[in-house]
Amino acid sequence: MSDSKLADEDYIIGTNDLEVKRLGLQHTLWRESALGAWRRAGIRPGMRVLDLGCGPGYASFDLAELVGPEGEVVGVDQSEFFLKALEHGARIRGLDNIRTVHAAIDAFDWPDAEFDAVWTRWVLCFLPDPKSALDGIVRSLRPGGVFVAQEYVDYRSFRLEPSEPVFDIFVDAVDASWRHFEADPNVARRFPAWFAELGLEVDELTPVHYAARPADPIFRWPISWLEEAPSRLVELGFLSQDDANEFNAFIERRKADPATLLMTPCVLTSRARKPG
Ligand SMILES: C[S@@+](CC[C@H](N)C(=O)[O-])C[C@H]1O[C@@H](n2cnc3c(N)ncnc32)[C@H](O)[C@@H]1O
Repeated sequence: MSDSKLADEDYIIGTNDLEVKRLGLQHTLWRESALGAWRRAGIRPGMRVLDLGCGPGYASFDLAELVGPEGEVVGVDQSEFFLKALEHGARIRGLDNIRTVHAAIDAFDWPDAEFDAVWTRWVLCFLPDPKSALDGIVRSLRPGGVFVAQEYVDYRSFRLEPSEPVFDIFVDAVDASWRHFEADPNVARRFPAWFAELGLEVDELTPVHYAARPADPIFRWPISWLEEAPSRLVELGFLSQDDANEFNAFIERRKADPATLLMTPCVLTSRARKPG
């Protein structure tokens, strides 16, 4: 168990009502992609699934529907605030097959061979030691169990065109904040080598990279983050207030221009199986 206040403050993005809302929008826009990955992974009724870094639980709710009342979803997160949002969301959806565990991943007591599937999305990119988390994931999978992840593989593929120098200043600040927390924004690049080392059989490596214009729904995904991130980066000391103001004005110009092109930061859908 971790101290919730400390853990929440230690998380780069932060935890508050706005972030719960942003994660909801993010899940809506990525839901189709996640459902496809889970279908290919064979997630079905009766399974026990670990949602590692579940946040407010938007993916957990869908997974709980897929595994049904005979199955179970275990959501692990270090944020008590997010877990409370998950528990409330589960209650109003009438889902009683989700269990939450309040823990930092590096202090999580990994069970032995308990899960049919482990799902994680935009979580390992925040950990200083994602390899040891993967060790735990492998231990917690049953023989034949599957690991499914969606994590960034190339954060700098993120573009908003026509660009301006302040966009690169912003991306550099994001990168610096990630490195400061000793995390790797491109963590998925290391998966194939780790899978080989841990004896996992790779079933899928699919890049997900969208091109969007302001009228497209997926445009709202990075924009919702770009609208929140500058103030957080100023608070953490990675961006000056002047650059944040200039960046916000740049975002408003790009949103207002129907000819804007957004290339989303490339995510890798990775799926690997524990032999057995
Ligand atoms: C970007 S959110 C993604 C949430 C969820 N996986 C989703 O896709 O909607 C990252 C989540 O990882 C959690 N997290 C980050 N570092 C963590 C750690 N060391 N231990 C446990 N949870 C962590 C955060 O609290 C947050 O809920």
